[in-house]
Amino acid sequence: MTLGALAATGQGHHRGGVGVALPNVSRAPYAGYFGPDADTAKMLEQMLTDPSSGMDAPAAILVETVQGEGGLNVASAQWLRRVAALARKHGALLIVDDIQAGCGRTGPFFSFEDTGVIPDIVTLAKSLSGFGLPLAVTLMKPELDAWKPGEHNGTFRGNGHAFVTAAAALEKFWRDPEFENSLRERGRYLDRRLNDIADKHEEDELTVKGRGMIRGIDVGDGDLASEIVAAAFERGRVIETSGGNGEVVKVLAPLNIGESDFRRGLDILAEAVAEVLGSQTAVAAE
Ligand SMILES: Cc1ncc(COP(=O)(O)O)c(C=O)c1O
Repeated sequence: MTLGALAATGQGHHRGGVGVALPNVSRAPYAGYFGPDADTAKMLEQMLTDPSSGMDAPAAILVETVQGEGGLNVASAQWLRRVAALARKHGALLIVDDIQAGCGRTGPFFSFEDTGVIPDIVTLAKSLSGFGLPLAVTLMKPELDAWKPGEHNGTFRGNGHAFVTAAAALEKFWRDPEFENSLRERGRYLDRRLNDIADKHEEDELTVKGRGMIRGIDVGDGDLASEIVAAAFERGRVIETSGGNGEVVKVLAPLNIGESDFRRGLDILAEAVAEVLGSQTAVAAE
């Protein structure tokens, strides 16, 4: 690796496998990649410290706190703190890709707030514009901001409407501390409902993944997950999958979803899982 970035975001594992070449990027195993007993932060430290490891000093370490497309894998606060310390020690910037896990998805506005980690750069998008207009921003420490206002311009830069809707969404939801409390409450409800589904199908060894309002169920098989998604669609619910093989049925409900819609949406998910896994059991029993 030449002076580049070191990524642990799972974006490279997007299903379909078609991607744009990203030269000068080394990928490192995420928290828990080799199971709970293998310390991937330590592996990274070893690779960065050992001149013969094949990994050059990175300009930046780029990480998601919860891998969105990578299968809703959650990095512990301790793992993130250790990666942040490694970045500091090796003179690399710490970039948190909070495009999917940020803007309240995990509870607080930034997904890393409860960890004590302070990244040098944070990327945000998705829920940011709030009302359906796409917007992405890159936040950086002032000392890293080399551009003067208006210097980084081009035809497709910042959409005026999206700036207005994003500002309105931030004002409306984030000025009121009650919103963050409501997110944590919704997250707890979601956790209960997903664990209920997993418990009900104990023999299928489902794993509940993610945290806060970025959650899902790992059903262990991409085809099965697709069938569940299709069964939910038949009942009027749109959901997606994630994970290296699309094996995780994702639940990314709107952060401000009303109680009855949320309950109904999760009822539909439970019905879809029961329909698909029920028929699986029937096939296996034949
Ligand atoms: C965490 C994360 N980073 C980056 C991206 C890429 O965003 P874009 O499609 O705007 O390039 C995505 C899209 O799903 C994402 O989830």
